Amino acid sequence: MSSRDKTILHVVGARPNYMKIAPLMDALSTVPRVRQLLVNTGQHYDAAMAGGFIRELSLPIPDRDLEVGSASHAVQTANVMIRFEQVCLEEKPDLVVVVGDVNSTMAATLVASKLLIPVAHVEAGLRSFDRTMPEEINRVVTDRLADILLTPSRDADENLAREGVAAERVYFVGNIMIDTLFRHLPTATLDRVADRVNVTAGSYAVLTLHRPSNVDVRETFTSILSAVAAIASETPVVFPMHPRTQARVNEFGLRHLLKGVCVLGPMGYIDFLSLTSHAKVVLTDSGGIQEETTYLGIPCLTLRENTERPITVKQGTNRLVRPETVHGHLEAILSGKWPKTTVPPLWDGKTADRVARSLKARAT
Ligand code: UD1
Repeated sequence: MSSRDKTILHVVGARPNYMKIAPLMDALSTVPRVRQLLVNTGQHYDAAMAGGFIRELSLPIPDRDLEVGSASHAVQTANVMIRFEQVCLEEKPDLVVVVGDVNSTMAATLVASKLLIPVAHVEAGLRSFDRTMPEEINRVVTDRLADILLTPSRDADENLAREGVAAERVYFVGNIMIDTLFRHLPTATLDRVADRVNVTAGSYAVLTLHRPSNVDVRETFTSILSAVAAIASETPVVFPMHPRTQARVNEFGLRHLLKGVCVLGPMGYIDFLSLTSHAKVVLTDSGGIQEETTYLGIPCLTLRENTERPITVKQGTNRLVRPETVHGHLEAILSGKWPKTTVPPLWDGKTADRVARSLKARAT
């Protein structure tokens, strides 16, 4: 490598990161004189949560594995910082790219900023305005420090402007996760999962739950699973369960509420896309799934009090619900009374190219 080549260091760590970095590394691979490195923090470490995604999405084998694993927020964040600082000192990157809002995103941003390495944040500007949500703190800190803020929607631009971020730092590029969805949708057929799930297209619900606010409090989790049990008595429900959620089901003794539900372990990216893209409705507390269902035009009921992705409600198929209101919304969906929606601007499968162009423009 000559001294004029640029080193870009990409950071991934948890399940929702891989589908955001994969299209970007691909787009940047055609840019001359750029050396790309991939750092995997290991915030998620099970094959079903991490390694499987790296292979399936054709990401390169990570150049560095930090193996931080699960711990309290402070310990996990601190471990990423300690180990990532070493990587930065050794590799001397010209740019660090972080995505999303997980602890690894914020930790890497803090380290790079203090070493005066420019940071680009993909999926910048989203706000739930709810600081009880750990991701909200990660978003605010990351955007405060990052030099290049790449936003998925205009509401994100408005949030950043309100916080006093200079417009020159903000690039509206669209939703990079949709690039990955766009690429894999043709192979996401229901027969991929037929060995685990016996459903027909358009006849079933998919459920995902993992937010501490939903699953870590016994009363809340019980009322959600009671609502799910009622749905499952009428409509098949498929529930790929996050490890945190599995642990709480066992700890709170709630297995009986899942008797009529098809419970699976965490799924791979394309298998899960096969399920959601053929579902009648998706129930979730995830951020990314609100966006994927809006793109797919599949009704989504989000078991949360707020969302950092309001465009999915304003323009898309998403509605915020509580356990006691789920049933009414489901009736509306089953009887075809769900508003017509549109795909938000620049959720078009070409976001990674726009990110690559923005980064190039900044570097030259
Ligand atoms: C993290 C992110 C969240 C994201 C979610 C996607 C933060 C603050 N949270 O939450 O934004 O939506 O990932 O999944 O960064 N565990 C395993 N195997 C794994 C990973 C986790 O068994 O590979 C178990 C552990 O018991 C762990 C628990 O799941 O304690 C939670 O994992 P953790 O990484 O702390 O947070 P998530 O809830 O996954």
